[in-house]
Amino acid sequence: MWRIESELGDVGAPYDRRAAIYDRLVRSRAYNRIAWSCAPEDYAAFASEAFAAGAGPLLEAAAGSAAATAQLHGSSQRPTVLVDLSRRMLERAAQSIAGDEHELPVHVSLVQADLLALPFPPHGFQTVVGLGMTHLFDDLQAVVGSLLAQLAPGGQLHLAGLVAETRRGRRYLEILHRAGEVAAPMTADELHVALGRPTRFRATGCMAYAVLDAS
Ligand SMILES: C[S@@+](CC[C@H](N)C(=O)[O-])C[C@H]1O[C@@H](n2cnc3c(N)ncnc32)[C@H](O)[C@@H]1O
Repeated sequence: MWRIESELGDVGAPYDRRAAIYDRLVRSRAYNRIAWSCAPEDYAAFASEAFAAGAGPLLEAAAGSAAATAQLHGSSQRPTVLVDLSRRMLERAAQSIAGDEHELPVHVSLVQADLLALPFPPHGFQTVVGLGMTHLFDDLQAVVGSLLAQLAPGGQLHLAGLVAETRRGRRYLEILHRAGEVAAPMTADELHVALGRPTRFRATGCMAYAVLDAS
């Protein structure tokens, strides 16, 4: 089995209620194509690049159910921590990573925590990866600052999130924003600027990908 480390107790988080449905949607090729003009394979490939970027400790931030990363966690040898605010999402991540073994690999641990109050000493990770998450935060700068603070010298932060690059995508993001689910929609150009114009930045449909170097 597995243990989720937490200083939060079972406080509950918005994604607790929708862990199962989210996990199904995010893996769906049809949903990704129709809603966001992108494909699960795109961000699986981006995640794969992050895992291949080194051999040292790796932090997956806002890991959710690890829909795009469960297999990578299973095959990687990197000491790895998955962090999410939602215990239910981390439980699904654990199930996906453990698979038929019903055990997490020894190099993988799960921590329920807020990205803005991470319970780790700074500079402990060579790679930090956060998928499908930049669009969630009103104060993106604060979250990015918190994640950059986790990087060891020479490390890299790999981030992905939704941007308003199609009419349909913008409409969905605006609806989600009005419902309080996501921050105000940004275009890819706006996100590029908000992230300090990283040299490695691209968007496929409504999914943007950025790699930031440790400062
Ligand atoms: C859209 S899901 C993305 C999950 C996963 N990275 C993926 O790509 O499938 C966003 C995740 O961010 C988590 N989250 C939101 N705010 C957070 C915060 N302040 N600290 C940690 N996790 C947070 C949610 O619980 C949810 O699991």
